[in-house]
Amino acid sequence: MKAESIVDIAKRRGFFWQSSGIYGGLAGFYDYAHLGTSMKRRWENIWRNYFLGLDDNFHEIQPCLIMHEKVFSASGHLESFIDPVVRCMKCLHVERADHLLEDNLSGNFEGLSVDRMTEMIRKHNIRCPRCGGELEDVGVINMMFPVDIGTGNPLRAYLSPETAQGAYVNFKQEFEALRRKLPLGLAIIGRAFRNEISPRNVLIRMREFTQAELQIFFDPETINEHPRFSEVSDYKLVLFPAKGRKSGKVTEMKCREVVGKYGLPEFYVYYMARVQQFYLDVLGFSRKVFRFRELTEEEKAFYNKYHWDVELHLESLGGFREVAGVHYRTDHDLKGHQRVSGINMTVNINGREFIPHVLELSFGVDRNIYALFELCYREEKERTLFRFPGRVSPFDAGVFPLVNRDGLPEKSREVYSFLKKSGFDVFYDSGGSIGRRYRRIDEIGVAAGITIDYQTLQDSTVTLRDRDSMKQIRVGIAELPTVLRRFLDGERIENLGRVIN
Ligand code: GAP
Repeated sequence: MKAESIVDIAKRRGFFWQSSGIYGGLAGFYDYAHLGTSMKRRWENIWRNYFLGLDDNFHEIQPCLIMHEKVFSASGHLESFIDPVVRCMKCLHVERADHLLEDNLSGNFEGLSVDRMTEMIRKHNIRCPRCGGELEDVGVINMMFPVDIGTGNPLRAYLSPETAQGAYVNFKQEFEALRRKLPLGLAIIGRAFRNEISPRNVLIRMREFTQAELQIFFDPETINEHPRFSEVSDYKLVLFPAKGRKSGKVTEMKCREVVGKYGLPEFYVYYMARVQQFYLDVLGFSRKVFRFRELTEEEKAFYNKYHWDVELHLESLGGFREVAGVHYRTDHDLKGHQRVSGINMTVNINGREFIPHVLELSFGVDRNIYALFELCYREEKERTLFRFPGRVSPFDAGVFPLVNRDGLPEKSREVYSFLKKSGFDVFYDSGGSIGRRYRRIDEIGVAAGITIDYQTLQDSTVTLRDRDSMKQIRVGIAELPTVLRRFLDGERIENLGRVIN
């Protein structure tokens, strides 16, 4: 599937489109429409339930997105959150240098020094993509959006480029409020802002986007163990290590072997396993489209000691693309905040004083939504559909009267209200033939269709239709909430009742 087709479908059906569209749009900004908003909220809820469920001491917080300049001086973003850029001498167009190299030569040039990038531009005689003019030497620019607070003598602040800093500046207070226990996890689902030079690939590289990040604060002396490691020690991770990357091959290895072979601590590997299980078991992606990519010293973010990204294979973008990362940030951030704020960031556990270390699980929500669009799209002879996992699709089910007379609409409204009260996201549709209504829910990826017909009036049963197989079963209205829940959780329709078509 092509990226343009995704954009087209998303726009036509009401998932997302470019922001400020009535004024010609704003590059790198997208608005979620009604279906996209519902889907994104549901993805976030799944993420929340899964990751907060990993430990009793993991909690969600909602810090501000505009933060004091000193936050970013402490974190290193003021100095190091930079992108390599190159300017055209003739038309003054500015382009991201590593992307320009990527567009002209095959490969990945992220992390290359600016001198080396200049050298390559000269060697391959790469010119301005707009006017063909000669390019200046590669330089760097900071990617944060500054904000001036107040008037007169305004205070300089920044829109946060990652949600993570909100957790670090709140750590000490949360640690006290939560009765001084480690590990402590602080999760944030919120916006991040980056002044990307060349926003591109729809939801993949935006200037305002949503992150779901979990910062796990832990005692560095316990990094070589995790109390639940035995649950994953035989679980195989799909790895794309830095060494041997040229071969393009992935390696599958049990968690306990990964610890020995790559020198990664158990604490880190345990969370890699949980992240992979989120993609494969909870979201239902195939192993073939998933891998952990190890970043080299040059590619790693400036704050990371261990850094493996989650990549999904996205044909529309030409191959594997990063959607999340597992980052061991050491005490980089808390130490920085202690230095700049003067606030003591050490904790005292069993008489030992230390600054906790941080393991960060970082997800780009929009990139994950884009991946769902691409990986779940199917074209069949008579229909197109999105095979979204039941709990991520924009609604749990559509409720339909077979015809608009003889008391069926009234009965359907009853079933609709009953499901709403039982906690389901359902919608009611009575427009057009039942076949057309099924096509409509297929097109927006809703997994279940519930139809109220003449038999319903006699025996209080309805049909439940599976989007993927188009099979239908008959279910009693009283049992519907339980059956629908199991169906949305991935149980096959055949296991839930006798197939009638
Ligand atoms: N707190 C760590 C951090 O922000 P990152 O690798 O810069 O790390 C984490 O970003 C995730 O955020 C990425 O894996 C990606 O999914 C998403 N992301 C980063 N930049 C993005 C952008 N410009 N547009 C959309 N998503 C982005």
